[in-house]
Amino acid sequence: MNSTANDVRYLTFALGKGRLANKTLELLEKIGITCEEMKDKESRKLIFVNEEQKLKFFLAKASDVPTYVEYGAADIGVVGSDTIMEENRKVYEVLDLGFGKCRMCVCGPASAKELLQHHEMIRVASKYPKIAKDYFYNQKHQTVDIIKLNGSVELGPIVDLSDVIVDIVETGSTLKENGLEVLEVICPLSARMIVNQVSLKMEADRIRNLLQALKEEL
Ligand code: PRP
Repeated sequence: MNSTANDVRYLTFALGKGRLANKTLELLEKIGITCEEMKDKESRKLIFVNEEQKLKFFLAKASDVPTYVEYGAADIGVVGSDTIMEENRKVYEVLDLGFGKCRMCVCGPASAKELLQHHEMIRVASKYPKIAKDYFYNQKHQTVDIIKLNGSVELGPIVDLSDVIVDIVETGSTLKENGLEVLEVICPLSARMIVNQVSLKMEADRIRNLLQALKEEL
């Protein structure tokens, strides 16, 4: 049976709010996927629809994007690889979008360098406790006290809450302006596309075509 436009289901995108979402929309526009409704900055709407292309888009807090995708509330998500690692959800990571490039690093004052050499018990502040724990326990075999913060993590060593931090470094200017530096690089990061495991099978053709078009554009 041929499917008509009416029985095509919506493909739903969850985008992490902020810079990554803007970059993602620019990229999608290049391959002919648009959502005019989303461009209205005054709008308080949370979900946007492109009726013609049977697509829906919503903006979510970045750390929630993998959750929406795992549960199938969104078929596709775009979020940083830092969030994917930290959230550790059951989703397929299908494409490195190449933007939003930065690094996950251990940072602190230069004087903290030595603390990383001798497997000493140190205090590590981070918005990414899972990544920090995995790095220190499984890669460095160093026992540490992980202190979860929700932002402005650079304050940790400045106010002596922690010895070092595990955080994202993009330009390095936040570190520099606060007398801190990169002590160790954990891994490079960038924006990734993730897909719900069932959607990848049920909507295989549409998702394959989307990925193909994106790859040609990148
Ligand atoms: C991120 C990160 C660093 C900063 C790095 O924070 O946690 O603080 O950006 O960027 P830079 O190397 O270009 O200076 P974000 O702006 O997301 O805010 P937050 O600290 O409140 O989480």
